[in-house]
Amino acid sequence: MVHGPNLNLLGTREPEIYGSTTLPEIDAALERLAGELGARTASFQSNHEGALVDFVQRTDADGLVVNAGAYTHTSIALADALAAVARPYVEVHLSNVFARERFRHRSRLAPRAVGVVCGFGASSYLLGLRALVEHLNRTR
Ligand code: DQA
Repeated sequence: MVHGPNLNLLGTREPEIYGSTTLPEIDAALERLAGELGARTASFQSNHEGALVDFVQRTDADGLVVNAGAYTHTSIALADALAAVARPYVEVHLSNVFARERFRHRSRLAPRAVGVVCGFGASSYLLGLRALVEHLNRTR
C-alpha cells in the first residue's frame, strides 16, 4: 500500500470529501481483507515525493495499491519509478476525482496501472486490493 501526501490526516481532513475513516483503520481493513484473500500487505505513507520513489524502488511486493494523493496528478518521478520496477499496481482514490476540479482529472500513474478505482471512500482501497490480487492470481 503506497499512501501519498496528506493521507496521514484522513479522519480529520475534509471529511465531507474523504470520509471519517483514519489511515490506520484503512490499513487494518486492508490487512484483514488480504488475510481472507491469502495475501499479505505492508503499508507506507509519506508526504515526500522522493520518499515515495525510494519505497517503490526498494519494495519486493508482488503488486502495489497506490493512492498517491496530489502526486497522482503531477509526479513524473513516481510514474517513472513505477514503470522502472514493473510491478503491477492499482491506482485508488477515496473521492471521485472526475467529479472534482479539472486538474484532478489527469493522472500521471493511470496509463500504466492495471486499473483505477475512485469514488468509493475507504472502500476504494479494498476494491483495489481485491482487483490487484485477482490480477496477480490470473497472471502468475
Ligand atoms: C485523492 C484525490 C487527490 O486529488 C487529492 O490530491 C488527494 C486524495 C483521493 O484519494 O481522493 O490527496 O487521491
